[in-house]
Amino acid sequence: MIRAKFLGVGMYVPPKVVTNDDLSTLMDTSDEWIRQRTGIEQRHWVEGKTTNADLGFEASKMALSKAGIEAKEIDLIVYATLSSDHDFPGTGVFLQKKLGIGGCATIDIRQQCTGFVYGLSIADQFIRSGMYKKVLVVGSEVHSRGLDRSPRGREVSVLFGDGAGAAILGAVDVKDGSKDSYLCSTHLHSDGNFAEELWVAGPGMGFGGETRFPTADVSDEVYYPKMNGKTVFLHACKRMPEAVMEALNASEKKIEDIDLFIFHQANLRINDMVAKQFSIPEHKVFNTIQKYANTTAATIPIGLAEAERAGKLKPGMLVAIAAFGSGFTWGSALVRW
Ligand code: UT7
Repeated sequence: MIRAKFLGVGMYVPPKVVTNDDLSTLMDTSDEWIRQRTGIEQRHWVEGKTTNADLGFEASKMALSKAGIEAKEIDLIVYATLSSDHDFPGTGVFLQKKLGIGGCATIDIRQQCTGFVYGLSIADQFIRSGMYKKVLVVGSEVHSRGLDRSPRGREVSVLFGDGAGAAILGAVDVKDGSKDSYLCSTHLHSDGNFAEELWVAGPGMGFGGETRFPTADVSDEVYYPKMNGKTVFLHACKRMPEAVMEALNASEKKIEDIDLFIFHQANLRINDMVAKQFSIPEHKVFNTIQKYANTTAATIPIGLAEAERAGKLKPGMLVAIAAFGSGFTWGSALVRW
């Protein structure tokens, strides 16, 4: 049967490090609060004219090099981001231009923290159907330019960082029930009833009024991310374990069968809670939030690339991936690495 295999993963964060102490000079917060409530110690921010597509390009180059293939072999780019460089067109075509592979297909998706899991699933469907053989899936974010630095926004602004991750998925012929490396399954969910619990209201065509552009009577509050932190936290703690179990059940696996868990990085306390609920030993959960904060669509591929670089992700390992975020969206994947 034709399945998708991870041929290579890559990641990139811009060089500028912003510590919690640095943040406390910009807004009303403290290193102690951020560490205790989230586990975050620092994040990376872009400088100058660096774009979202620039970050995606660097991560993609690393993934291509790890996969040992040339960019021109890519049939489809799936680009997941909530911080696109422009309203339209999507950021995928700007990455395509940088890679010099005009002509292949591109899809931009807007599933926020679950964006990369959705991207994996899209890649998997195209590969299983036989339509494409090599798909580049990218998660990339530039948050630092859109953060509310006033006291009003501090609960959200301390959480996010800039960065990108990428994966090349390629078609392989595997035998059912074999221990070959491939993406075993993906599982996707969303619930629009909670769309306004974590969102940026404007500008947008549905933003109300006669124009989507700033007017004197509109507070700039609407242009910044707004979150009902406690509601998001509670739902994440419910949906992440559900998503993990869905992926395991689909392959008749148990928690003990999993060698490594790569979870979305929104809050260390959420991941610790999931690990505790399933009695997962600490060394099997690979967290990067301490260094990079929440890079939304990029957290999962950054986690995969870092785990591989650290020697914690090796061929043959069974890897469970799960994410939850704005939308609400959530999902999971099981991978034989
Ligand atoms: O990736 C997308 C998904 N996102 C998430 O999953 C995030 C989910 N939510 C969370 O991670 C947590 O709710 C937060 C980290 C956002 C907040 O943690 P919390 O433990 O729920 O804090 P809180 O909302 O209960 O706030 C506690 C206090 C408040 O002060 P009072 O009312 O107790 O006096 C806040 O005003 O902390 C205050 N506070 C801050 N203090 C210093 C809020 N933000 C900050 C800050 N620095 N940055």
